Amino acid sequence: MQTLTIRRPDDWHVHLRDGAMLKVVAPYTARQFARAIVMPNLDPPVTSVKTAQAYRERIVAATGDGFTPLMTCYLTDAANPDEIARGFEQNVWIAAKLYPAGATTNSASGVTDIRLIHPTLARMERIGMVLSVHGEVTDPEVDVFDREAVFIDRVLAPLTREFPALKIVFEHITTQDAADFVRDSGPNVAATITPQHLHLNRNALFAGGLRPHAYCLPVAKREQHRIAVRQVATSGSAKFFLGTDSAPHSREAKESSCGCAGIFNAPFALESYATVFEEEGALEHFEAFASEHGARFYGLPLNEGTVTLARAASQVPTEIDGIVPFHAGETLGWRMVADEGV
Ligand code: DOR
Ligand code: ZN
Repeated sequence: MQTLTIRRPDDWHVHLRDGAMLKVVAPYTARQFARAIVMPNLDPPVTSVKTAQAYRERIVAATGDGFTPLMTCYLTDAANPDEIARGFEQNVWIAAKLYPAGATTNSASGVTDIRLIHPTLARMERIGMVLSVHGEVTDPEVDVFDREAVFIDRVLAPLTREFPALKIVFEHITTQDAADFVRDSGPNVAATITPQHLHLNRNALFAGGLRPHAYCLPVAKREQHRIAVRQVATSGSAKFFLGTDSAPHSREAKESSCGCAGIFNAPFALESYATVFEEEGALEHFEAFASEHGARFYGLPLNEGTVTLARAASQVPTEIDGIVPFHAGETLGWRMVADEGV
């Protein structure tokens, strides 16, 4: 097979930033994806209908037509169920994002105790609005590599019992525990999977020295977990879908005494995922993972149009506009060559 043509895909989890960075990074996402769910962790975060609308307009100005940003709102301890339902009913946002306070970039205003947002979650459950979850505990006593597994026990499993019909996306899963949990939950629980967690295990962080460009949150785990995540991603199960978590930071912000978490994978995201599906002998499931499962979970129509990947070398630059991309300096075996948007 020399080319792979699939229905136009969507990215169900991306950070597009704001200001000058937005203008640089958003076109990469818009080139590969028809739609993307845009995370709200700006500073200050996107918590109101008004700020989400204004942010959406800035994104559209950066990408031009042909790309649809799907907005999210950022849950705080003070989340107001009426405002959250209003944004959903007015089609301003499609989901609300739960960041445990302190879990990651710009999460200081996140939720300190899940019980504080129970009224909001009850409302979301009733109106069919998706809860998007950064699934890590922030308890400093918990080892950083265990934070996702402990989050399942302490927060997510109880949440699914308390709100059995709530639609939940467990974002950027990194562990066998998360893969198993999602697989064994009802159809209202799904997960996104990033390219980096399919390619990297935690050794990548320390390969010959400290590697800040392999650092993201949740941090890559041991090999057993990478294998489990690859297995579910490529299994054909409708509960698992593409979410890049592309999270650009400048080279200086990463290569620092306290480097930021996040991997900028948008420029070659499809090539990166296709490489994994091919390695797993599962290219027949690639289109569903990239272009069908997410839309069905969110209750949106599938895209028209196609993208085509050819079996040709993609040389990934060592730097793009001051940002070091995922796979920097590597050559990938696929290249996006055509896009027939409709
Ligand atoms: O690595 C990450 N970067 N993980 C997150 O959860 C946030 C993101 C960011 O915004 O930089
Ligand atoms: Zn993210």
